[in-house]
Amino acid sequence: MKDTLEALRQSALGELTETRDTRELEGLRVDYLGKKGKITTILKQMGSLGAEERPVIGALANSVRADIENALEARRSELEAAALTQRLLHEKLDVTAPGKKIEPGRRHPMSIVLDEARDIFISMGFTIAEGPEVELSLYDFDKLNIPPNHIVREWSDTFYITQDEAVHLRCQTSPVQVRYMETHRPPIRIISPGRVYRRDEVDASHSPMFHQIEGLVVDRGITLGDLKGTLNALVGRIYGADTKTRFRPHHFPFTEPSCEVDVQCVSCGGAGCRVCKGEGWLELLGAGMVHPKVLAGVGIDPDVYSGFAFGIGADRMTMLRYDIDDLRLLFENDLRFLRQFA
Ligand code: DAH
Repeated sequence: MKDTLEALRQSALGELTETRDTRELEGLRVDYLGKKGKITTILKQMGSLGAEERPVIGALANSVRADIENALEARRSELEAAALTQRLLHEKLDVTAPGKKIEPGRRHPMSIVLDEARDIFISMGFTIAEGPEVELSLYDFDKLNIPPNHIVREWSDTFYITQDEAVHLRCQTSPVQVRYMETHRPPIRIISPGRVYRRDEVDASHSPMFHQIEGLVVDRGITLGDLKGTLNALVGRIYGADTKTRFRPHHFPFTEPSCEVDVQCVSCGGAGCRVCKGEGWLELLGAGMVHPKVLAGVGIDPDVYSGFAFGIGADRMTMLRYDIDDLRLLFENDLRFLRQFA
């Protein structure tokens, strides 16, 4: 029994030095000193010893147990100190290190121009209307007087959602006009900015997704003069009071008469340059007097009321404003580009 105790003392002290953390250490303590531990088991056998042997072995057992307990305690302090050092190293905080700069975000150039346009129209008494981007052909085509065989209805031009061509991604913001007139009576004065979709290949001036600002005014006695005045006011405030506009005759199924509106090239001031391809003018929007058929279709009497409407190319408007020569820059989110706009 003496030898066994000595052997236990040696093995315990040996194993102790190998423990790597306090959990392992606790396992070791249980293994030797726990209720069913190796030392405890020996002590339980003391009853079988003779009267002389018992105190000797008892004293030895106590000293072995004390040795192991002391060594356990010492090792525990050692391990705890090591763990603390590790943690401190890990959590070291260099109070002299320079701070991380949080860069404030800024508005996208499109947002800047769109917000400006909204403010301008609101100041003229317009309110803002919205419509769905997944639209019924009924609203985007039929009720806008676009005939059944019109080119925009081609699958090569329009992103259809359903095989029967009843639903598609709207190719213009004009259907908002119809939706609004179906639920509101004149006087009407709205704009509706939003995304539109066409099956175009991406290049410097085309994208399958782009933006328009639709406008609609319906009341008694609205004339082409009101249209010109409104659009000139917009152009003046976005591009500067001296910026000239040009109204060119055009055709849209939902307006009569129709026109396209150009602004004098902001790059060359009208002399002709690369941006305007020598023209001196840049196309900004389509517009016209709301077609009597469109008014009648929503139950507004064209003999009593008249109106004008327009659809501004919002991306175009932004590009002209900041002299941006490639549409893709607006959508690619290159920070080197975006950081230039305050
Ligand atoms: N929707 C036309 C387009 O996408 C633009 C347009 C022209 C809108 C005339 C109108 C309008 O409201 O009256 O080309």
